Amino acid sequence: MRTPLMAGNWKMNKTVDEAVAMVKELKDLVADAKDVNVAICAPAVDLYAMNEVVADTNIDLGAQNMYYKESGAYTAELSPAMVKSVGCKYVIIGHSERREIFGETDELLNLKLKTAFANDITPILCIGEKLAEREAGVHFDRVKFQLAADLSGIEAADVKDMVLAYEPLWAIGTGKTATPEQAEEIIAFIRETVKEMYDAETAEAVIIQYGGSVKPQNVKEIMAQPNIDGALVGGASLEAESFSKIVNFK
Ligand code: G3H
Repeated sequence: MRTPLMAGNWKMNKTVDEAVAMVKELKDLVADAKDVNVAICAPAVDLYAMNEVVADTNIDLGAQNMYYKESGAYTAELSPAMVKSVGCKYVIIGHSERREIFGETDELLNLKLKTAFANDITPILCIGEKLAEREAGVHFDRVKFQLAADLSGIEAADVKDMVLAYEPLWAIGTGKTATPEQAEEIIAFIRETVKEMYDAETAEAVIIQYGGSVKPQNVKEIMAQPNIDGALVGGASLEAESFSKIVNFK
């Protein structure tokens, strides 16, 4: 049985004070959540202070990005050691905003994934199609291509422990959610693709989230789908009350 992961992605929101205030409020609201893992992927400058607040709680931390080199002259980048030093269990790799706005390629994301695994950081790899690709009916090909490119050379043992997040770009921050059936259809396809690339055991174990306008109002029907193992939540993770309702979806 896979334990769902509800992860908030704060994107470029919250100063240190705001971040600390929110996790202080959130920790009590999610303290009794059962059979669900909880994470907040926060801006890098917030993580050190947040780490102190979430110690001894059921909230894990994640970074939103990381470079693939261990250290060196890479101005403004974060190394795996830095990410771990502020208590991060997770790192988001290949969010569509990184791919689209900052030009991150599948080749780069593949290197980042390898570095995450080498450093025992669990990557949350984002994949998903644009609106034009969905309308042209090539969304299955698109995610299959991303999986093949991003996971190239990565072992089954690592894939088994990672998180995939299916996020159709047309549903991110738009208020437009994929229907639970649309999300289930493609997430089942992603699991089948992992099975083809690796084996049944790996496909059964990998956590696959849905992301794109998840809210307290729609989380229950999304989570009712058999292949969906949680959500990567943007906007609705910015308030403790709404994110706690998503975590406590049962
Ligand atoms: O990483 C989170 C996603 O981009 C979803 O964002 O919940 O604001 O649509 P959203």
